[in-house]
Amino acid sequence: MKFITVDSYEKLSRMTANMICAEVISKPNAVLGLATGSSPLGTYAKMIEYNKNGDVDFSEVTSVNLDEYVGLDGSNDQSYRYFMDTNLFSQINIDPKKTFVPNGCAEDLAKEGENYDNFIKELGGIDIQLLGIGLDGHIGFNEPDDVFIKETHEVALDPSTIEANARFFEKEEDVPRTAITMGMMSIMQAKKVVLIANGKNKKEIVEKAVYGPITPQVPASILQLHPDVTVIYSEN
Ligand code: GLP
Repeated sequence: MKFITVDSYEKLSRMTANMICAEVISKPNAVLGLATGSSPLGTYAKMIEYNKNGDVDFSEVTSVNLDEYVGLDGSNDQSYRYFMDTNLFSQINIDPKKTFVPNGCAEDLAKEGENYDNFIKELGGIDIQLLGIGLDGHIGFNEPDDVFIKETHEVALDPSTIEANARFFEKEEDVPRTAITMGMMSIMQAKKVVLIANGKNKKEIVEKAVYGPITPQVPASILQLHPDVTVIYSEN
């Protein structure tokens, strides 16, 4: 695991976008595992810039996102599908038909999870997976638990996650209580992983994930077992 500390969010974002874009330049039909949250916004802004400059072409790329709130469809401005469409997909030349986010409105979420995992397998797995980290150590929406869950699955959000994500909603009651998230298998089978975190409040959990014991109580700690992980942290 490489642990890089940089002194600004700008640098973190540039470095991360460079890693993702390098992957696309060397493999134009790369499969990108993408994330939501505030952490990747700077990375997406850089990717948009590089695409507009003509430095990187996303036309053959496929993207698979980590997670989605249960009950929110793409027309809801709090859904992760809407977030991705707005903050990245509509601003680069990716083919919208090749962008995938788990369907939080699927009637049978277990089946949706199974299909999502099979689909990722058929794609040949993820070439580079971008991750943020929650204050409780969650990646995607894999919350602290007694076990690491392998498959894409429905999950009850931790009260601390609901509280942290309330800032994006009008009222805390509006935050969905459940989500569907990619499990640890597809994440751990990604060829490369980049985890990004910024802000003083993330320092403790990032250090726990990188240096602490590997435990499902700190879901991101599983990444210590992955052969190619880069963690990029900025206090600012
Ligand atoms: C959400 C997402 C995660 C994300 C985390 C941190 O719960 N499901 O994928 O990493 O929040 O978000 P932020 O980057 O806004 O701190």
